Amino acid sequence: MIATCGDRTLHYAARGDGTPVLFVHGFPHDHTLWAAQLDGVADVARPIALDLRGFGASPYAGQASMDAYADDVACVLDAAGVERAVIAGLSMGGYVAFALWRRHRARVRGLVLADTRAGADTEAGRATRRELIALARERGADAVAERMMEGMVGKSTRTRAPELVSHLQAMLARQSVDGIVGALEALLARPDSTPDLATIDVPTLMVVGDEDVLTPPRESRTLHEGIRGSRLEVLAGAGHASAAERPAAFNHVLRDFLATLPVE
Ligand code: MLT
Repeated sequence: MIATCGDRTLHYAARGDGTPVLFVHGFPHDHTLWAAQLDGVADVARPIALDLRGFGASPYAGQASMDAYADDVACVLDAAGVERAVIAGLSMGGYVAFALWRRHRARVRGLVLADTRAGADTEAGRATRRELIALARERGADAVAERMMEGMVGKSTRTRAPELVSHLQAMLARQSVDGIVGALEALLARPDSTPDLATIDVPTLMVVGDEDVLTPPRESRTLHEGIRGSRLEVLAGAGHASAAERPAAFNHVLRDFLATLPVE
């Protein structure tokens, strides 16, 4: 499906007709990161997963930033006819969820923050982003995919499911260089969302793989401590792409969380 937002078009997929849950992928993914959630929770929810600008089937347009991505999410909610949704973001998708909370909080019925963090990049982190921008421009998405895969999945997944590792690497490798560079610029400029944590007053679930080395469980514990009444689930044997690595476990905690939402 297509959402038109001014001069931009955004691709999204949707299923089911229950509680709307809008899924935001990480870097450098597309909406298919959430394939197991689109199929796995459609009997109890209305899962919607978008391709952020420059990823998947959404063309790159304008200048990417977490705020711009958040506005894109709001536009997809409009196109899908959804006033309020649970926003589920993995890693960069979590950074977008924080921006959506700052800019469009009336649209947020709950939050699922998967394998993410509140803090901004450190100076060393920004230097690594700049190196990755140069790599993307010089050697393309394949080289970025190879570099990013080093931390994308946990050691258990590497041993247990090499075909999933290849599948995820192929997803990373098919993204556009414009989308990748735009996202890296957005990532290195993103603000610290720590001050927002105390303002979050909607039901919030944190999910993290216990083998996540990019956004380790301690980051989710910080979110859990900062967000009043939130819930934290650590998935054993999953790394950074927990929703794809342990889909049944992820869907189980997600379904359980959705069942506890106040009726609207
Ligand atoms: C992601 O998966 O979205 C990235 O690892 C986020 C990041 O690099 O900060």
